[in-house]
Amino acid sequence: MQFINQVDLDGKRVFIRVDFNVPLDEEGNITDDNRIRAALPTINYALDESAKVIVASHMGRPKGQRVEKLSLAPVARRLGRLLKKEVPLAPDCCNEGVQKAVEEMEPGSVLMLENLRFYQGETDNDPEFSKALAALCDVYVDDAFAVAHRENASVVGIVDYVPVSVAGFTMKKELDYFRRSMVDPARPLAAVLGGAKAMTKLPALENLLDHADKIIIGGAMANTFLKSVDINVGQSLYEEELVPVANVLLRNAKKRGVKMFIPVDCVVADRFDPKAETKLVTVMDVPNDWMIMDIGPATSLLYREALRDCKTIIWNGPMGAFEMDAFSRGTYNMVSTVAQTYALTIIGGGDTDVVVTNAGESENISYISTGGGAFLALLTGEVLPAVEALGGTTGLENGGRA
Ligand code: 3PG
Repeated sequence: MQFINQVDLDGKRVFIRVDFNVPLDEEGNITDDNRIRAALPTINYALDESAKVIVASHMGRPKGQRVEKLSLAPVARRLGRLLKKEVPLAPDCCNEGVQKAVEEMEPGSVLMLENLRFYQGETDNDPEFSKALAALCDVYVDDAFAVAHRENASVVGIVDYVPVSVAGFTMKKELDYFRRSMVDPARPLAAVLGGAKAMTKLPALENLLDHADKIIIGGAMANTFLKSVDINVGQSLYEEELVPVANVLLRNAKKRGVKMFIPVDCVVADRFDPKAETKLVTVMDVPNDWMIMDIGPATSLLYREALRDCKTIIWNGPMGAFEMDAFSRGTYNMVSTVAQTYALTIIGGGDTDVVVTNAGESENISYISTGGGAFLALLTGEVLPAVEALGGTTGLENGGRA
């Protein structure tokens, strides 16, 4: 795998695939621009090298239709502000008009293409669409780690039709931190997994059993684990079909000497509502008609102690329904625990990075990944199609097993 600083960009048309799939509010304002900021070193490098920089991204899932709400117009404006440079938005991403606009570009200028997913060919990895994108450039740079787990035309197919394909600095940083945390970690290595759905996290958990020394579980997914050891979770969200799988995971952890932590107390509510009545109970005392909304203070302390001696910590997913103030304490306690350790700390997954930013602790985390699904795919040991297309490896494909 080659990187952007290893090839000649001078005067070249350089297509930089980024992931600017950022959250927007009802009025179309960007609510978190971390992914845009993360791409600045790569874009600035190409500009400094006098490249003609074409920036391309997807936004949302328009399914091959032109959906005005998913236009990249607000993103182009924000990128322009951050680069302190004009960033015109092409009205399309690969028609004749775009070809012409690219032909007219000067070295050191930027052109942003409209949402790639307005074409079905993008998610279908259609060779014709890949060729149309490839025709726009001399050098392809993949800096879109967050979409590296998708076999899309602009991250996989395009590589076959461009003479030079390399990775950008974000991609490099993501893979480097991943290797430091999972492939060759300073030990003890702890993984903290939370969030609502056990279904999306269990494959990663299974893989983590081969690598981590400690695994800490929180969020609604912990309810499935509590249920698997016959604890009554009342009306709490849990995944019935995964209860036996969770039980096997707990037993496998024990067999392999991996210390697995599940909550010992929790905040329960009489309904799923920010104004619900709440109380603190041990997990043995969840009332039948109440639901678990957050980990409790004893669990926060236990988790803090468990992480105290760790030298590497990976965290994905909140500890409770943190969007509601009454149920956010467990997640914010985890932020301060992780921020205060002397470990290498890596955080991934949309919700988790929002909480860390809200808590003002971003500076105290070693690395905040730009990836949600892609980060989980790495933890699961999956082959990332984008990395494979560039001729690289994550170092842990197939879970690191031969
Ligand atoms: C993400 O936000 O995780 C990436 O942009 C990928 O988006 P997708 O899940 O719609 O493919």
